[in-house]
Amino acid sequence: MKSKKLVALGLAAAMCVSLAACGGSGSSSGKSSSGSATASSGNVANKDKPVVWFNRQPSNSSTGELDSNALHFNDNTYYVGFDANQGAELQGTMIADYIKAHKDEIDRNGDGVIGYVLAIGDIGHNDSIARTRGVRKALGTAVKDGDNIDYQAIGTNTDGSSKDVQDGSIDGVDLKIRELASQEMKNSAGATWDAATAGNAIQSWSSSFGDQIDIVVSNNDGMGMSMFNAWSKAQKVPTFGYDANSDAVAAIAEGYGGTISQHADVQAYLTLRVLRNALDGVDVMTGISKADDQGNVLEEGKDYRYDEKNRSFYALNLAVTADNYKDFTDSTKVYEPVSKQLNSDKKKVWLDIYNASDNFLGSTYQPLLEKYDDLMNLDVDYIGGDGQTESNITNRLGNPNQYDAFAINMVKTDNAASYTSLLQ
Ligand code: BGC
Repeated sequence: MKSKKLVALGLAAAMCVSLAACGGSGSSSGKSSSGSATASSGNVANKDKPVVWFNRQPSNSSTGELDSNALHFNDNTYYVGFDANQGAELQGTMIADYIKAHKDEIDRNGDGVIGYVLAIGDIGHNDSIARTRGVRKALGTAVKDGDNIDYQAIGTNTDGSSKDVQDGSIDGVDLKIRELASQEMKNSAGATWDAATAGNAIQSWSSSFGDQIDIVVSNNDGMGMSMFNAWSKAQKVPTFGYDANSDAVAAIAEGYGGTISQHADVQAYLTLRVLRNALDGVDVMTGISKADDQGNVLEEGKDYRYDEKNRSFYALNLAVTADNYKDFTDSTKVYEPVSKQLNSDKKKVWLDIYNASDNFLGSTYQPLLEKYDDLMNLDVDYIGGDGQTESNITNRLGNPNQYDAFAINMVKTDNAASYTSLLQ
């Protein structure tokens, strides 16, 4: 037994040398592989192996148009994400409801204007765009750009003169609502959704117009928590994020206003389950809309919805506020209806996370994937990117022959071909 493993390890080392496939910077871990690098079973061509895109849907980052070629790369290609519009609307409503419930004390400086600042994750990412629009719509600050709501960052707008937003209002509240400032949180190296950048932004916003800020809003919890810790917690200014990461949920007890769960437990399950089903040659809906032999099953319409045309699974979102946060304290807990062990054979999967330091993917999504990979007998190599360039990740897919299936999280939604070209 022992000597067999050593042979396998020796082979793996030889492969690394001859294929130059194992270099590259950034992190990579084969958590469940215990160092084995068994070649994939069978002789399926790489172009026919199952592929799942997740978290960043192949699409044009300027127009939002879906990349149909990537979504239909082969018969076993899917996308797994969550319903961005439903979640965005929920985030907007959660904030509007908070304002209604606190209308008598929310205007801290009594100037008749409820001022908010907004941290934007990535101006070319459909989830980020939807959240910016959802908040502006619910608070009445949205303006139209053609048929759609303008989602641009406005810089500062303390005097209300911006053309990309307007002063808004909500029913039953006799105060104006103004987006005082918004900014895409991109660091100088190009990484988006950058928490440290958001922390710096709130420092500079608060030092020039802090008394006007009554609410802090963020496209995600990573940036939201950075702003909360840097400023709003001490000022007791309600801060709203998205993702229901465990630290953000815990902060609700300390004044964080609320967050949205994008049901990462369902998404992580679906990400691996569509691959498992394809590898087992069973109906893609096994363990999803139809119970598998172990009884794993999700509820369509409650847990997720499926768009057949775009082969996309979308988990449904839930609001997490002071009323219910105790039910969400562990964001990495597997979802009970799909928590039963499968007994299919081991298969090897290559999976990348676009940015190893992304808060949501690192603290919520990957820990969930690591639990489900055991339940589904998948030996997954996790590759962590730098969040800046696709090549930092694709350089580490030197030998696709080694894998049975691929799970891909792109840096930029336009770049699907950087990955599929390696499988052609
Ligand atoms: C999450 C963000 C995350 C981004 C990465 C979004 O769905 O809400 O927190 O940074 O995905 O692509």
